[in-house]
Amino acid sequence: IKTETDEVLLWTCETILTPRWLHRRFRAMTGPLLTCRFQDPEPADSSMEEESDTRKINNSFLRDQNYATEADIISTVEFNSSGELLATGDKGGRVVVFQREQESKSQPQRRGEYNVYSTFQSHEPEFDYLKSLEIEEKINKIRWLPQQNAAYFLLSTNDKTVKLWKISERDKRPEGYNLKDDDGRIRSPSTITSLRVPVLQPMDLMVEATARRVFSNAHTYHINSISVNSDLQTFISTDDLRVNLWNLEITDRSFNIVDIKPANMEDLTEVITSAEFHPQQCHTFAYSSSKGSIRLCDMRQAALCDKHCKYFEEPEDPSTRSFFSEIISSISDVKFSHNGRYLMTRDYLTVKVWDLQMENKPLETYQVHDYLRGKLCSLYENDCIFDKFECVWNGSDSVIMTGSYNNFFRMFDRNTKRDVTLEASRENSKPRAILKPRKVCVGGKRRKDEISVDSLDFSKKILHTAWHPHENIIAVAATNNLYIFQDKVN
Ligand SMILES: *[C@@H]1O[C@H](CO)[C@@H](O)[C@H](O)[C@H]1NC(C)=O
Ligand SMILES: *[C@@H]1O[C@H](CO)[C@@H](O)[C@H](O)[C@H]1NC(C)=O
Repeated sequence: IKTETDEVLLWTCETILTPRWLHRRFRAMTGPLLTCRFQDPEPADSSMEEESDTRKINNSFLRDQNYATEADIISTVEFNSSGELLATGDKGGRVVVFQREQESKSQPQRRGEYNVYSTFQSHEPEFDYLKSLEIEEKINKIRWLPQQNAAYFLLSTNDKTVKLWKISERDKRPEGYNLKDDDGRIRSPSTITSLRVPVLQPMDLMVEATARRVFSNAHTYHINSISVNSDLQTFISTDDLRVNLWNLEITDRSFNIVDIKPANMEDLTEVITSAEFHPQQCHTFAYSSSKGSIRLCDMRQAALCDKHCKYFEEPEDPSTRSFFSEIISSISDVKFSHNGRYLMTRDYLTVKVWDLQMENKPLETYQVHDYLRGKLCSLYENDCIFDKFECVWNGSDSVIMTGSYNNFFRMFDRNTKRDVTLEASRENSKPRAILKPRKVCVGGKRRKDEISVDSLDFSKKILHTAWHPHENIIAVAATNNLYIFQDKVN
């Protein structure tokens, strides 16, 4: 809004329908976010060129020093269902696939290291001309499809478009064509005097990634999750207000199965934050909301699953209610256990395990970083309160893992009720060293090797982690670094 005094008031700059947006809207009612005044344009700067040069140098310098450039920040991590492959996606739209090395008898300490297998550009930045919006290339989620032939298939998504990628190996090349010579030049038919049979010749192994399908134009809002159905024929893609069901073979249409968009957007109070199919029942899926609830839907009941069949929510304790209650109860991730009996949800301060047979309260609640409860005001100011932490089960559903700040991540053993805080960092752990548990101290006395809440680094956050489906191997993404930890080798 430009005022008479030539001031520009910026009321809201977010177009994303996330809980953050809902709260920005709230803020906008209390005053502008930013006020600025028009000024004459700066005179052309002669030092421009020099500056862009030094930026280039700095960039490569930064890369060498392993500082993150924005594009290198890892935005998702996922093992395939045998754990032999591990895929990461980043903000620059790239997918990197790692493959586990075969065990070698001569070097037992190199048990199952993961090496880069294939790297490809999955998404490019785009521009939506109708809405004047930039579409980021950032990979929001990756999901593997079960292997059915020699090639591997995965789905990757940014805010708007899901792609099906085929990753295949090639170690032979056809040679001895009749109509072209070995360099590919077309031979003149008059020079062809004899016929040969083309043969396959061995060559160096090449790994190729090709986009096999592009599922686009079905989401008005931002896709936050994709999930492959156990029928292996369909998948869902979910944005802030809708869930769409696709057939993996068909790209020109999808079915809208959940739509929570109110007739009037002013009435919007809740957005969808995550959704996942049940691991065995192909008609069941769950989705979580910014109000802290989870809905379980059965696709057999109706084509449109607007009516849930189960609704999981913990009643709010009125004595602890505050301005932040709703924000911190927003669920950032929902995951079915491998056996399909439980649901795990992550909100800002806790991880909860729900029994599918009990809707009124969680079975288990684990505190991830309760010491932040007293710092919610500053975490709101620096936007950290809107961080979306993910959570994962181990292969037997007995341990759960989720991230925190200061490159800390937490593990909770559901049987022994023991928990541990570990740190993924280059400074504090050498390769192959054993991770030492970390402790955060609250209150006055700080013991040696404890870290105080006030010195936690909130720019270092572990949002994305993955657990090998059958072994104690975990992958932890810390900004632009991927850490792989495994059980101690005896
Ligand atoms: C996972 O990847 C490995 C490749 O090393 C492959 O052998 C395995 O079949 C894949 N597993 C599944 C279930 O797709
Ligand atoms: C899950 O974690 C427990 C405890 O560390 C371990 O005993 C079990 O083997 C793990 N399961 C899998 C499949 O990794």
